[in-house]
Parts: sequence; C-alpha cells; structure tokens
Amino acid sequence: MNNDKKSQKNNTQDFSPFIALGDPVLGDPEKKTLCDVIDSGWLTMGDRVATFEKDFATLHGVSDAVAVNSCTAALHLCLEALGVGDGDEVLIPSLTFVATANAVLYSGAKPVFVDINNISSPHISLDDAATKITSATKAVIVMHYGGYTVDLPAWRKFADDHNLLLIEDAAHAPAVRLVGQLSDAAAFSFFTNKNMTTSEGGMAVARNAEVLNKIRQKRSHGMTSSTLDRQRGHAFSYDVITLGYNYRMDELRAAMGLVQLARLPSFNRQRKVLTNHYRQVFQINLSEVSLPFTTNHETSAHLLPVILPEYSNRQDIMSQLRRAGVQSSIHYPPIHHFSFYKKLTPDVTLPHTEEFCSRVITLPLHPALSKSDVEYVVDTLTQAL
Ligand SMILES: Cc1ncc(COP(=O)(O)O)c(C=O)c1O
Repeated sequence: MNNDKKSQKNNTQDFSPFIALGDPVLGDPEKKTLCDVIDSGWLTMGDRVATFEKDFATLHGVSDAVAVNSCTAALHLCLEALGVGDGDEVLIPSLTFVATANAVLYSGAKPVFVDINNISSPHISLDDAATKITSATKAVIVMHYGGYTVDLPAWRKFADDHNLLLIEDAAHAPAVRLVGQLSDAAAFSFFTNKNMTTSEGGMAVARNAEVLNKIRQKRSHGMTSSTLDRQRGHAFSYDVITLGYNYRMDELRAAMGLVQLARLPSFNRQRKVLTNHYRQVFQINLSEVSLPFTTNHETSAHLLPVILPEYSNRQDIMSQLRRAGVQSSIHYPPIHHFSFYKKLTPDVTLPHTEEFCSRVITLPLHPALSKSDVEYVVDTLTQAL
C-alpha cells in the first residue's frame, strides 16, 4: 500500500504533487496478518484481541487494557465505569476533537469548557480549570494535543487536591512516557490518521482493576461470557449484569493492531525526526510562523500545528497549499463554537483557545514523509505568506 505510494512532487502538468496530511503506513505484514485471520475462520473478539490488549498494556507500563471499536467508545466507557453521570460536570478543553465532549454527554454529565494556557502551550489550563470547579464537578479530561503530553504529575495533584477523577484523552499520544499511568483512566484511538491504526479502533486503560473490569463488561452488552467462551465450551449461557454496549473490537483489527503496535516506537521516532526538521527549516526560512511547544517536550509527534502571523488569511493560504499539492487542516475548530454546543453551553468565552483556533493550521506529518517533502511544504507556505 503506501509503502509503495510515496509522497510525490513533480512540477509537470500531468503529475501533480500530493503530500498528504497523515497517511497510514501499511504494507505486507498488515496484509498477511489480515489474510491469516480470514483463514482462521474466527473473526469476532477472540485470542488476538486478548494478545493485543496484553501487548498494548506492556508497552504503556500498565497491567491491563481493554480493546474497543473507537476512542470515543473508550472515553464513554471510562466515564461510566468511573461513575460519572447525571448531574455531574466534567472539565474539558474546547481545543479537542468533538468526541471528547460528546462522550461526556453520552454519560449524562455536562461538559464545562476550559481555556488553554496560551498559543505556545495549547494545553488545558490548570489555572482556568481551578476557576471552573463547582460542587458538581466530578472529573477532568485532559487531552495530549498533537501528541505533546500535558503535565501529568501536576494534573494528578490538581485532581487529588480537588477530589476529582482524572481522565486522559490520549487519542494523539500512544507510547509516550507516563501516558496512561497517572490518571484514573485513559482512552486511545487507532483511527486511520493516528500514529498507529486498526482502521477504526480504540483502547482503554484504568489504574483500578475493578474499573477496568467494568469497562470490559460494558464493552459487550454487560454480558458475563463471550461468544468465544461459549464456542469453546467454557460457558453455556450468560447473564447480563450491567448496562452495556456493542463496543467490541474484532480479530481483524486486533491482528492489524498487533503489527502496528510493534512498529509504533519507530513510527513515533520518525515523526520526531521530521518534526525537528520542520522546526529547523522554519527557523531558517520563516520566523514569522511559530510552532507550539518546544523541541524537548515529551511527544508522539502526532500533529505538526503552526501558528500563522496575525495578518494572514488562513483560508487563502490553505487554498494555495492545496494548489501546490500540500494537504493541510485545522486542529481544531473550538467545540464551544459549534452550533450544537453553542445552544447547549451558551456564553462561553475562551480567549486563548479562540486565538489559537483562528491562527493554527496543521501541516503534513507522517512517517513516510521525506525531509525534502518537509522542505517543499515549508517553501510552499513561505510563498503563500
Ligand atoms: C483528541 C481526540 N479524541 C477522540 C477522538 C476520537 O477517536 P475515534 O475516532 O477513535 O473515536 C479523536 C479522533 O480523531 C481525537 O483526535
């Protein structure tokens, strides 16, 4: 697949360049493992899912993990299993994918939007969070924007000081130091554009074994035995002991996840090499744009966000990049500006988030990019500006 499909740039008319924002890196090992699952005749949740969970937990330095069919499902289950529900408030950043807020609503709780620190450190702000705590606040969800970790020890202390649950939306940050280890629960994504992919998929971890057990039960209708247990004669029937969902992962995805998980450390390393190259080339060529965070920030280097100068017309720049074959995006439009959320939580003002979201664009970053692709992207942006 895209092992062969390298980003291309060529200025001839009939072969236009295309540098994708975030191509998955897939090849023969993924194809072979998918064929093996098909040959095995067992497609639904089984041994491969269990092995994927075990290997994911080991890589993250935790004792166990539960595979599900998306990070959104994992967030929902983490909240429910931790007892977050009706009447509770959950502090979340507005600078995140809408799934973070949606999951809070699924649980019956209310999302309360918190500003980021500033445009160079676009993480949920501890100071602003402190001002938003009420007697109904039950939890805070932090999100490792772009793969750059929030200050987890500081957030653990904040949660303990205020008697809150700490949940990580770790969709961007698999295999990064401390991620999944200090919070009450964490949710990961294997959606196609993530650092590792199962096409669709997710994983939950929790520091309390009982909470993780609840997540495991809720993933499959609250049932006490699986189809595989019954097929193998380990169980004849089942009970339903809690409200559950069909959030299961299947064997095809787990098999692909096992291959991708083994490649993840090298994918993350390559992303960091390319991020550092972007930083160097920007420093030389284009000091008017700034990159959030710093070179030594702990990260999976999931995204390459850059802050455009105040005077620039972002839409125009994105169109010029597109014409030159460079895909770009915006991570993210702030959630509190979406029509649905405006109605639900009117009168929210988050000055730093609003400034960041109006000036950020995300540039291509994935392990199959070359350093010359990076230089071409920066050159194109320089010309567009
Ligand atoms: C920060 C964040 N949270 C949650 C999600 C939801 O992940 P999934 O698509 O696996 O449900 C995403 C996916 O894009 C994300 O970027």
